[in-house]
Amino acid sequence: MNLTIIGSGYVGLVTGTCFAEMGNHVTCVDLDEKKIADLNQGRIPIYEPGLEPVILSNLADGRLRFTTSLAEAMTDSQVYFIAVGTPPGEDGSADLRHVLAVAREIGRCLDKYAVIVDKSTVPVGTAEKVAAVIQDELDKRSVDIAFDVVSNPEFLKEGAAVDDFMKPDRIVIGCNSDQARDIMCNLYADFCRNHNRMVMMGVREAEMTKYAANAMLATKISFMNEIAGLCDALQVDVEKVRLGIGSDSRIGFPFIYPGCGYGGSCFPKDVNALISMAEENDLEPMILNAVHQRNADQKNVLFRKIVARFGSDLSGMTFGLWGLAFKPGTDDMREAPSVVLLRQLIDSGAKVKAYDPEAMDVAMQELPKDWFEKGALVLCQHQYDALDDVDALALVTEWKPFRHPDFKVMSSLMSQAVVFDGRNQYDPKEMKSEGFEYWGIGRCG
Ligand code: UGA
Repeated sequence: MNLTIIGSGYVGLVTGTCFAEMGNHVTCVDLDEKKIADLNQGRIPIYEPGLEPVILSNLADGRLRFTTSLAEAMTDSQVYFIAVGTPPGEDGSADLRHVLAVAREIGRCLDKYAVIVDKSTVPVGTAEKVAAVIQDELDKRSVDIAFDVVSNPEFLKEGAAVDDFMKPDRIVIGCNSDQARDIMCNLYADFCRNHNRMVMMGVREAEMTKYAANAMLATKISFMNEIAGLCDALQVDVEKVRLGIGSDSRIGFPFIYPGCGYGGSCFPKDVNALISMAEENDLEPMILNAVHQRNADQKNVLFRKIVARFGSDLSGMTFGLWGLAFKPGTDDMREAPSVVLLRQLIDSGAKVKAYDPEAMDVAMQELPKDWFEKGALVLCQHQYDALDDVDALALVTEWKPFRHPDFKVMSSLMSQAVVFDGRNQYDPKEMKSEGFEYWGIGRCG
């Protein structure tokens, strides 16, 4: 099939690349000229394991191409995916400006029946708005061309996106027309050869499914973070509780790891957007508000433990920080708990030596320049360099190389062997026997 993907950000790039890998001819469009020029040269703008070789081989085979011109990309496609950003507006609701601008452009160029797919995460009712904008442009042109708007939300996880796309748990397709349903099923058939993973529903249901999935996962995490706070207060080890409840198949193990808060571009944004949708409909989103508040507060948990241990004036102290990305497997620092902790430490007079396996360039670009200029933050080349002469280590992201470090080397480098473990990576008993003072999340201290 010939496909056009509009928006070559994270979702668009992965979607287009994986469809090309399945033999489709895919044109990816983006307004950013530098990004498109780089992609045409085989330079990939994001870090995502496994993505680069698939882009390169499909570029070389001519199944994938990149352009800044939607009009040029709209010559022969049967399906158009809208995968542009939906940043949060000032009130937390999703800003549909880019989505609707793309819809208008599609309406200006459409010359035969096509399926327009909302891939971006968009509020319930957006497909209807997209259809109205396209129809408006067709009316202006006085042409009568049929089209369908379908909702096909993405469930990719950063760091595992190619695998998630190639081997999806489910493919949700929200569709109100038989013709569009057949085209979408045909397109996705190769991704579910052994077992049908397509879940068909109405358009509004698919739009809601995306938000409900992210909000449910965020709720599991926030619930567990709240239990971890109770465990700290009641001298209970939350790791044992996690094992105890996760083994109930109705609860399950995924997304019940307590920590120093969830981040990224999706959970915080989507929980807020759902809160806005509830409020716009005069409903009080009690659980969603609590999930949001718990997470905002959870990002303070490491700092609170540090202040409880060292006092609120940290001047003259230096902290090591392991992990800047919001989670392992990505260089993305959006809404990362590390940024909250860095600000708190630096505002309290401390210096920080930080290390992350992938996010150092992003940190250099995105963190306040004055932190570097005044020497409050130093980015280190190696995880152990970030321990040199520090009073304590804060582990914020659970990258694999932090899982089994050399504790002897660590304690020989640190001026005080104190570890604040924001992801419960270590066993408190083992840490004690290695001579560390250990503070985890919900691990009795
Ligand atoms: C999330 C969803 O998992 C994807 O299904 C969805 O497609 C995506 O959002 C999206 O809407 O685009 P992602 O943001 O890449 O994916 O990250 P996750 O792996 O879900 O992790 C989110 C955050 O939760 C991270 O900060 C992670 O550290 C935290 N987390 C996760 C916990 O604190 N505890 C857990 O048990 C699991």
